[in-house]
This record gives sequence, C-alpha cells and structure tokens, in this order.
Amino acid sequence: MRNLVEIYLYFALIVVTTSDKKVTDKSWWQTASFYQIYPRSFKDSDGDGIGDIKGITQQLSYLKEIGIDATWLSPVFKSPMADFGYDVADFTEIDPIFGTMADFDELMEKSKEIGVKIILDFVPNHTSDEHEWFIKSVQNDTEYADYYVWHPGKVTENGTRIPPTNWISVFRGSMWTWNENRQAYYLHQFHYKQPDLNYYNPKVREAMKDVLRFWVRKGVAGFRIDAVPHIYEVAPDSDGNWPDEPRNYWENDLEDYNSLQHIYTKDQPETLEMVYEFREVMNELDEELGGYQHIILSEAYTDIDILMQYYGNTTVDGAHIPFNFELLSNLKSWSDANHYSQLIHNWLDSMPAGRTANWVLGNHDQSRIGTRLGWERIDMINVMLKTLPGASITYQGEEIGMTDVWISWENTVDPQGCQSSMQEYERLSRDPARTPFQWNDEHQAGFTDGNTTWLPLHANYKTLNLKRERGISFSHLNIYKQLQKLRREKAMRYGETDVMAFNRNVLAIKRYLSGERTFIVLLNINDDYEAVNPKAAFIDLTDKLEYILTTDKSIRQKGDRVSSDYIELLSKEAVILATI
Ligand code: NOJ
Ligand code: MG
Repeated sequence: MRNLVEIYLYFALIVVTTSDKKVTDKSWWQTASFYQIYPRSFKDSDGDGIGDIKGITQQLSYLKEIGIDATWLSPVFKSPMADFGYDVADFTEIDPIFGTMADFDELMEKSKEIGVKIILDFVPNHTSDEHEWFIKSVQNDTEYADYYVWHPGKVTENGTRIPPTNWISVFRGSMWTWNENRQAYYLHQFHYKQPDLNYYNPKVREAMKDVLRFWVRKGVAGFRIDAVPHIYEVAPDSDGNWPDEPRNYWENDLEDYNSLQHIYTKDQPETLEMVYEFREVMNELDEELGGYQHIILSEAYTDIDILMQYYGNTTVDGAHIPFNFELLSNLKSWSDANHYSQLIHNWLDSMPAGRTANWVLGNHDQSRIGTRLGWERIDMINVMLKTLPGASITYQGEEIGMTDVWISWENTVDPQGCQSSMQEYERLSRDPARTPFQWNDEHQAGFTDGNTTWLPLHANYKTLNLKRERGISFSHLNIYKQLQKLRREKAMRYGETDVMAFNRNVLAIKRYLSGERTFIVLLNINDDYEAVNPKAAFIDLTDKLEYILTTDKSIRQKGDRVSSDYIELLSKEAVILATI
C-alpha cells in the first residue's frame, strides 16, 4: 500500500519524453554504443608492457562481439608522455610506443572490414613543450612567437619576478612557468610540459583545424575533444595584462586548483564559438567525403547550462555529443532513486529540441563503477546506461566489471597524483582506473607476453577476466551482451522515455514506441526487498509482463511472466520486462 501511494505521488512529478516525428530517421551516432579504449592498457602486442595500436587491431573483433559501433582512443600521437599522451609533440604522427603510421592504417583497414568505427582524441588546448611549435615559440621565431601565451611577469618592490597572475593549474601550482631562453612565463592550464596554445591567434585555430582534416581524410569517424572549457583564457587588457582570479575560501591549500574561482580561465564565451567552428569543419568534411556523419564528442566538466550550449542553437550546430557527466560526477554509493531520476532528468529536460542524449558512466580520469558505486551495482549501472535513450559510452573494462587497483605512492605515475603528496595522492591519482585489461587468467592476464606491465594488474584477474566471463551465463559480460542485443529493439532505439523513482529505492525507466513492445526497466538500488506497481505508474501496460533480462540477483528467469501491478525486487536487483 505504501508503495502505491508513493507511486501516485511520484507520478505527478515525472515524465520526460523525447519526441521525434520521423522516429527511425536517425544518423548512426544517435543510437550508437561507444567504447573508450585507453591504448596503454588495452592490449600489448610487442611485449614492452604497454598497450599499442597493433594490440587494438588484434582485439577489435572483441568490440564487435560486444556490439560496439565506434571506439574512441585516448591519444596515440607522438608524445614525451608527461601526461600519458595528453602532451602531444606532433598531432599527425603516431608515437613509437604505440606503433607506426602503417600500424594505424592497418587498424583503419580492420575497422572498415568489421564495422567498428575509430574516433581519435583531439587535444586542442595544449601541446607538449617538445612540440616543434613550442620550441620555435621559445626561440621567438616570427611565425610561432604568438602560438602560445607568454608574459614577462611582474616585478615586485624587492625586485623579484613573479608570475603575471595568481592562476593555479589543474594539476596544482602556478599556471605559469618561467622559460629562461625566452625570458618570459608561459601559461599551462595543466602540467608545465603542456603549454597552452593561444587561440586568439588565427594561425593556431587554422593549424588545429588542419589536424582534424588530416585524420578524417585518413578515415576516422570523428573526435573526442579534450579539455574544452580550458581552450580560452580571458583576453589580456590593452597593456597585455590579465586579472587575478578570486579565492574560494573553503580551500585553504593555495596551490590547489580548487582554491580559486576560474572565472577568467574556464568557460569563456569564445570557447563555444570554437566548438561551433570545429563542428563546421566536420560538416565540410562530411560533404567532401560523403558516406556518413563525422562526429564530435566534447569533454567538459562544467555547468549543464553551458553544456547545453555546446550542442549549438537554432542557427548553428555544435558538438554532436557533449559528454553527459551528470551521473558519472554526481552519483554516489548512497544516492537514492530520486537522485538517479533527478540526474537523468537534468539532462533530458534541458536538452534543446532535436538533440541527442548521451550517457557516460566511466573514463580514464575517474574511479571505476564497481569501486565508486559498489561492485554489486555493476550490472544495474550497465542496465541503466544501455536502456536510456541516445548514445551510450562505456570505458574499457566496465563491461566485465573491472574495479580500481590500489597503487602505492612509490608506484604512482599519473602526474596529477605525483604532483601532490603521499598524504593526498590517493584522492588525485588516476592510475587506479587505468590498469591493464583482464583478458584471461594466464600470463599477465593475457595483456602482454612481457614480464612487466606499466601499471600493476588487478590481483583478481584469475577470476575476473573476459575469457572466464564468456563461459558464465550471468557474468557482467553476458549481461552487457544481452543489453546490446536489446538496444537493437526499435523501442529502445527510437522510442520515447519516461523516468521516475517509484520510491527511495526503485528507479523505473519506460521505453515505448507505438506498434512496438513497451519495455520497463527496474533498478532496486539498495538492499531492501521491494514490491512495486508499474501498472499504476505507467499508462498502457498490459496486465502481464514478461522478464526479458534478469541478473544473478534475481530468482525470476528470462521468459517468466508476472502481473504488471505487483513486481518483487530483491536486493540490488535490476530487471527488464516487456509487455506481452
Ligand atoms: C582531460 C583528459 O581526459 C585527462 O586525462 C588529461 O590529463 C587532461 N584532459 C589534460 O589533457
Ligand atoms: Mg607495446
């Protein structure tokens, strides 16, 4: 009874609909399953303990096996690896650690052959300090002098030179580093080996657009764009100076990025224009090459109102997929169903008409799902990811339920961890989510033939690995594969969506399309036994529903039938039902 009352209460609060007249008229990416490969940790083909492009080519058919349409690769370009490839020394060369351009071409061949598209990481904000442009900029070369952001600094009363502003880098400490040769400070929003490009220089903008053209002409399907909110800083005043950023008094550590409000170094209006210009390049390439749409997935941890503008507006298009980090950033292990519902609604209800939703639940910068939200929720989260409308994005290993690996201070290699301290690094290091993929229970989990791996393997690889999961019917892998099959159903692909919390513990998602079976997805987020009444909450349900997907937490089996007004859910159970 209590549940019934709650259901009616929530019923009043709900209902999101994504309406679309020509429902089946969608481009490939709008309903795609994306998969992020972190190349260093996917598959090593040459025994050096670091994954590489040949390794990806060898295992690309695995992505086909799990129903992936496109994979985005973290950077594989020439790099001194100060930030493991996010410090690019040549945007159109492959780093020898990852292989050669011939290896890349072979990957593209394989990609075409099996039908898994390749998306590259585009890092517009900065280059490596070993990039030729920066080396020439240091030398004050006329062509490159203004490719980066330079300033002689300020001289204090006692004659010491200090940086031009108080700005703090994302990786700690001043955003400015002194360069002896040029006798000036250069700006870096991230590591000092990642100098920021100067986007007020039109030559920089054009040179970066050429990078996009280069790779699309080589056959890639698009780009994940890195660190977008940082592309522009505020323009300097007429004396060439910038203002200091105001303090956040809740953070006492003055070297910490959080100690300042980034009103001059993040989310500047020019950045949006730049995203629209990158999109324009994609549109031009679509026209030049025909075939299919080349896409942009933009990475930005920022306010939802700004993210919505990334999509574009009525006169201009922006990113096809501005990454939706609502769930990734805000869900906690203690979140209740209302919180889940609210975060989902935040995105769906804010999206401008005609745009496509997307859901990101993991990446190489964040703790893994099983660690962040609890290993018992791994399947449930994948069920949610795969049944919400639009594009889904999976980080490598989440489909087999890999979890974080604890890494000692001595073994920490991530600059974000290393630039902190032994006391702080665990909060900051991104190494734990970057460990090698667990292919099997053999030598080094099948990741490499070599004797070392660049980050330690998870100790659980003998029992948690792809090979073993292939043979277990309720493994994370097999649940994931079933979900991928279900995603091909028209109602899942093109249908409308209602999302609501039935009560504090149960989240419900309805996917429906006229003329098709309706799907009801139920997640029992916590440990309480629950009985819910979807029939009362959702209109147009048949009296009976059929179980379409169950997990190892269920007593019910696929094919079982149940009354749609009384559905029991066990602890942390996630199920999908369909009308009959
Ligand atoms: C975001 C990337 O995902 C992260 O790994 C990197 O450190 C920064 N951008 C800087 O490029
Ligand atoms: Mg290798």
